[in-house]
Amino acid sequence: MKTYRGATEPAVKGIDVEVPDGELVTLLGPSGCGKTTTLRCIAGLESPDEGRIRIGGRTVFSSEERIRVPTNRRNTGMVFQSYAIWPHMTVLENVAYPLRVGRISKSEVRQRVNDALDLVGLSELADRPAPNLSGGQQQRVALARALVSEPEVLLFDEPLSNLDAQLRESMRQEIREVQQRLGIAALYVTHDQTEALAISDQVIVMSDGEILDIGPPQRIYERPSSHFVAEFIGLANIFEVADVKEDGGLMTARCDLGTIRFPRDPGALSSDEVSVLVRLEDVSLEAPGPSSENRWPGRIISALFLGTLWDCFVDVDGVRVRAHVPRTAQPKAGDAVTVCIRPEDCVTLLR
Ligand SMILES: Nc1ncnc2c1ncn2[C@@H]1O[C@H](COP(=O)(O)OP(=O)(O)OP(=O)(O)O)[C@@H](O)[C@H]1O
Ligand SMILES: [Mg+2]
Repeated sequence: MKTYRGATEPAVKGIDVEVPDGELVTLLGPSGCGKTTTLRCIAGLESPDEGRIRIGGRTVFSSEERIRVPTNRRNTGMVFQSYAIWPHMTVLENVAYPLRVGRISKSEVRQRVNDALDLVGLSELADRPAPNLSGGQQQRVALARALVSEPEVLLFDEPLSNLDAQLRESMRQEIREVQQRLGIAALYVTHDQTEALAISDQVIVMSDGEILDIGPPQRIYERPSSHFVAEFIGLANIFEVADVKEDGGLMTARCDLGTIRFPRDPGALSSDEVSVLVRLEDVSLEAPGPSSENRWPGRIISALFLGTLWDCFVDVDGVRVRAHVPRTAQPKAGDAVTVCIRPEDCVTLLR
């Protein structure tokens, strides 16, 4: 737990995070939810009010045992959003900077810096003044500098948010490859859900200083633990349902569309606060036809071509349903369609 001086609420409440060796875990959550505070506590830049932090089996902070290992002896490597690169130094000098203290021979420093620059593909630019680099190259220098002291854990705080969309994608791939090649533990802060899904072994969804969900990307996307997590990760239709009954191996309930059928979930029977989540790619639009199980007649309000797919809004008796339909379909505003959702693609959320 960490409360900043003068604040009424803790910035980070009782969170429990473990980053196994060789895994990349992301902290994902809206602005102000406590991601940076968590990283800074681990790096030793802030002291929690209470709790315990262990790195590689060693306790670096414990309020109970009164342990507080200083930042420079925690063996972490950090990469920030602003690259924090020294403008008056060359690439090589920047990367060598963390090794300036300690008793490492000149030749070993040179070797380690070369290895780190090799890893991030910057060997050719070693003697270039740091300001004469592109944003992506500067971020690679920052990564090499974080790696050069051979840390036990890498900490990333939104390292890609200053880069343009294309560079962000290629850099996230590079970060993932380097992390896997070294088999190093990494904790990665982002508020970009696509980035989190793409690079993580585990995703932690935070809100208001608390953890709402932890799991592998696919599970978090397909079976989010709550309404908030579902809406934060990806786009979805969420229908509130009532009168839930079990019927023939499935559940049946009322929602704004009419009757909806979804997989058996005993929890849904005992709660009257249930929603059903359907991802946009699980909604299909077929030729007009009569209503039947999980098929509702509607009319396309808008269809935007996004390259890989069409993003459609469909009106079903006053309710808007959003669907991502294949690139090869030819949906047009005004078309009459049948909205189809397979029961097995419905996920129950308890509110
Ligand atoms: N130095 C500080 N002093 C007082 N309050 C702070 C300080 N730093 C952060 N806070 C507060 O603590 C809470 C968590 O902030 P934090 O920076 O950890 O959020 P974050 O999840 O990293 O957000 P963002 O995505 O905007 O970077 C916020 O309410 C913030 O205003
Ligand atoms: Mg932050």
